[in-house]
Amino acid sequence: MAELYRFGISLDRELIETFDRHIAKQRYQSRSEAIRDLIREELVFKKWTEGGTVAGAIVMTFDHHKRELVNRLLEIQHDFHDIIISTQHVHLDHGNCLEVIAVKGQAPQVEQLSTALKVQVGVKHLSLSVSAAE
Ligand code: NI
Repeated sequence: MAELYRFGISLDRELIETFDRHIAKQRYQSRSEAIRDLIREELVFKKWTEGGTVAGAIVMTFDHHKRELVNRLLEIQHDFHDIIISTQHVHLDHGNCLEVIAVKGQAPQVEQLSTALKVQVGVKHLSLSVSAAE
């Protein structure tokens, strides 16, 4: 485990009370853990804007009866094979599929892949969730 570093923060009472109510609702065990998550989130955001390595998952649902859609989605994934770790395909029902694509790569590339898939006609929903990879 990494060495712990402690520091104090000065905040308006109203701000910290609001924050405490907010994190209590989310069931955080401590303020420290909530602040750690905020810092990590901010650093992931920084990687997005500066182009660091991120790891995450693209989750999408699509209508597999849509003409040529499955082929297009496959072609796009082959174009980005170097950042795709694995793809899981689930046949949800007669017409709908769910795909979970695990990715690791430079943030702009991951975003490019996500957008290329999202804009295809027949893709009903797509969400991208990422963490800092290092
Ligand atoms: Ni399917």
